[in-house]
Amino acid sequence: MTVLDRLFAPDSLFSRRFFFLAKRFVAGETIDSAIAAVRELNAAGMTATLDFLGEDVLEREAAIKTRDEYFRMLDAIAAAGVQSNVSVKLTAMGLLVSEGFALENLSAVIEHAQAGNPKDPFVRIDMEGSTVTEATLRVFERAYAMHKNVGPVLQAYLKRTPQDVERAIEIGARVRICKGAYSEPPEIAYKDMVEIRLKYLQCAGELLTRGNYPGIATHDPALIEAVRRFAREHGIANDKFEFQMLYGVRPALQHQLVKDGYRLRIYVPFGTHWAGYFYRRVAERKENAWFALSSVFSK
Ligand code: FDA
Repeated sequence: MTVLDRLFAPDSLFSRRFFFLAKRFVAGETIDSAIAAVRELNAAGMTATLDFLGEDVLEREAAIKTRDEYFRMLDAIAAAGVQSNVSVKLTAMGLLVSEGFALENLSAVIEHAQAGNPKDPFVRIDMEGSTVTEATLRVFERAYAMHKNVGPVLQAYLKRTPQDVERAIEIGARVRICKGAYSEPPEIAYKDMVEIRLKYLQCAGELLTRGNYPGIATHDPALIEAVRRFAREHGIANDKFEFQMLYGVRPALQHQLVKDGYRLRIYVPFGTHWAGYFYRRVAERKENAWFALSSVFSK
């Protein structure tokens, strides 16, 4: 365990003291608080996807605990009657233990969603760092061969992604396209934001015209405007795709999209393992650190 792991461990004094910083981006520590956030989003015309925070699990018991937490989340979604599906990270489902073990846990979640969350039984597999890209896509395809209510995330910054987009289109899988949030080497990833935006739009264009109900995940006004224009020009109806954004990020833009008649799904993370997620939000935009602090002082 590194010093940082110890510092950010969910039961550490540091984590308990500093959760207020992450609060803007994390919908609380319990399922109840997450459901309350989803209820508010639904009332504002948005759907949601719930994420139980945690990643890089190395012990089987921890992965099984996460799987069981997903069962409880799906039951809570159904009991509350809210519009939400779930997003999972395969390293939280035991991918670093073995692919077969992660597949077992993922399949159980997919089956639980199918049986228990009839309003929206879809299960999204988040994409993590490049050390697990291949394994994540392999497990996804094995799960998809058995159940169709599952889909991957593809990251526009990875040079391999146009091929992965083609493969997803070929098999009819539902993709969430995002820029990518991990620090990757230049041999495999574009580093220049202009280039990443260009690649994003190329992938989004293919998914919008030939794909299956893509999730357009971004808060970038230039990309959102370009996608809106593209859809208009190609006669793609608003119910053939959805925009997706993160809880607490650019709420004014979120409301505007709904007002303009677009579908919008909000990614709602919750739980005590918030450190890695919060770090990525701050790393991608320094303003997010300021947001977190200012929301504390403006109370
Ligand atoms: P980005 O943060 O790059 O901002 C682009 C532009 O938007 C800025 O230049 C600025 O003009 C404007 N802007 C942004 N924030 C602003 C602000 N607060 N005020 C003013 N202007 C602002 N990643 C991953 O690797 N795997 C995954 O599975 C997922 N899943 C995922 C789901 C969802 C629903 C979303 C929205 C995102 C992800 N991501 C992800 C994260 C994603 O890869 C990416 O890191 C972030 O979305 C940040 O990139 P953006 O395109 O949103 O805008």
